[in-house]
Amino acid sequence: MSAAVSVDGKTRLYGILGHPVTSSLSPAMQNAAFAALGLNAVYVPFPVQPRQLPKVARGLAAAGVAGFNLTVPHKLAILPLLDEITPEARAIGAVNTVRCENGRMSGTNTDGEGFLLSLAHDLAWQPEGKRALLLGAGGAARGIAISLLEKGLAALHIANRTPEKAEALAADCRDLYPGAELRASGLEEAPDSAPHLLVNATTVGMGDGASPVELARVGVREALLDIVYTPPETPLLAQAAALDLPHANGMGMLLHQGWLAFRFWTEREAPLEVMRAALQEALARR
Ligand code: ATR
Repeated sequence: MSAAVSVDGKTRLYGILGHPVTSSLSPAMQNAAFAALGLNAVYVPFPVQPRQLPKVARGLAAAGVAGFNLTVPHKLAILPLLDEITPEARAIGAVNTVRCENGRMSGTNTDGEGFLLSLAHDLAWQPEGKRALLLGAGGAARGIAISLLEKGLAALHIANRTPEKAEALAADCRDLYPGAELRASGLEEAPDSAPHLLVNATTVGMGDGASPVELARVGVREALLDIVYTPPETPLLAQAAALDLPHANGMGMLLHQGWLAFRFWTEREAPLEVMRAALQEALARR
């Protein structure tokens, strides 16, 4: 969406800090939301080298910037710079959204809740009492694991190319959720029993034409969410379609984390469908 932005002395500034940040879809989504609600605000990308993060974040807050998102590689490094951290961000151990007020920075994490909203809206799927297989053990997988367990998932199998990383994440999850059943393995090991949900939180499928697992071998019972959204249909999602398994790509998670960030900053209900259309338009322009 291209909205005319009129900048004046009262314009509130938001942005995204990343390295690289040029391919971010968040400016399109957030500026469309500001325009739809008639808010005097703009959202811009800030390319920030890892070593510059402390200087940039403190400088933005001091300059009166109202808030910002963080993307790779800043989601962990921002933590010690914050004055306040929400309990969900503390549990996940990463922050993707910061609100600045009078030079103070409060951080939260909307990735986990955005993932849960996508599961609920796009797949009508709820974690309580269910079993899930999670592929990946990086930053995204961590947020997803904690969010699923927080919502009462009964059993989680974390499978990763580097099994030690899956074991480390599973150990953290066991400490936080002692009532849940946790297992860690390499990618190729089959789950103990057919999971209700499969989540791909690896980068496999992102333009490489590959699939992290052979879906027919896993026997997923209810739903599959692949957090990759470029291309919109990964080889894993194509296998789900062929097996008639309800599935969704990562667009919904991206949309909902942005929707939640907008609310954290403005305390206004964000226009979800406007943001979805802006995302789709920005993706189509790529
Ligand atoms: P993010 O923040 O998106 O989670 P990350 O922390 O770099 O990014 O994690 C990327 C994930 O994709 C990891 O689980 C990684 O596996 P390793 O821990 O073994 O590196 C996984 N991944 C990346 N490339 C992969 C590949 N070619 N095959 C299998 N897994 C891969």
